[in-house]
Amino acid sequence: MIILGIESTAHTFGVGIVRDKDPFILADVRANYVPKEGGIHPREASRFFATKAHEVIKQALEQARISINDIDAIAVALGPGLGPCLRVGATIARALASFFNKPLVPVNHSVAHVEIGLKLTGARDPVIVYLAGGNTMIIAFNDKRYRVFGETLDIALGNLIDVFAREVGLAPPYVRKGVHVVDECADKGSKLLDLPYIVKGQDVSFSGLLTAALKHYKTGKYRLEDICYTLREIAYSMVVEVSERALAHTSKNEVLLVGGVAASRRLQEKFKLMAKIYDASVHVVPPRYAVDNGVMIAWTGLLAYKHGVVIPVEKAVVRQRWRLDEVEIPWRS
Ligand code: FE2
Repeated sequence: MIILGIESTAHTFGVGIVRDKDPFILADVRANYVPKEGGIHPREASRFFATKAHEVIKQALEQARISINDIDAIAVALGPGLGPCLRVGATIARALASFFNKPLVPVNHSVAHVEIGLKLTGARDPVIVYLAGGNTMIIAFNDKRYRVFGETLDIALGNLIDVFAREVGLAPPYVRKGVHVVDECADKGSKLLDLPYIVKGQDVSFSGLLTAALKHYKTGKYRLEDICYTLREIAYSMVVEVSERALAHTSKNEVLLVGGVAASRRLQEKFKLMAKIYDASVHVVPPRYAVDNGVMIAWTGLLAYKHGVVIPVEKAVVRQRWRLDEVEIPWRS
């Protein structure tokens, strides 16, 4: 079985082609939208996708050395994400499915981050910590679904460090040689300053921390390195705290880190220290698949399609706020 997956939820238009035996990745092609300044502009990003999509699909088929006729089904990320961006992927997927008469498989982008993490790390039934630019969630599988055991009440962890980096002039680029610029700056800091640590029950809140950190910066009284150091220590500790409770509550013995922020070495260190107390192992998705990509959509599409998940073309509409705990997971028990 061969599945082609399309990702277009935010800044990446990605096409992955996978099959149901290892090595499972046949193709992985991506076009990344990089804004000239500021954050991601959904309409600009979607325009970029529309101009690149045909090349990306063509390259993916060439890389896999197959023709579109060899594909069993088309998978597409229908959400969550930015409306204009999602609509480019959905339109192309619907067109391919109806023109070539292929089944269409709806994929939830957050579920795909989890599934590619499980596939690539070999973790079996972990507490999953999903940390990205648009998401901060502690997840565990229970009774047919991935359940949320804590999340952010406002901005995501990735958004916190990106916006801070941008506002203080450390970014763009946000990542240099695989290290986030805030992590890089924090490594040179040593003094813990007074910034808010906000955990409410199982949820975290980062917007107050961002505002306070920027205020500190504007006073000119503190070293930027110390602000980065404090921001990082507090933000990561908040996430570790709620993850620890999820681990204790679910009695699982694995932790899996997925999403773009998972690449942070300091974050991994903190998780390893925590997991040691519970005799749990820590797994981290490889950096190339921690960020958005088409392979994770294709892979999740393959799992879903094997369990009969398909959607009629006319019903394949995008869902900007599609939560992962709304999705039934028939392929896991
Ligand atoms: Fe993502």
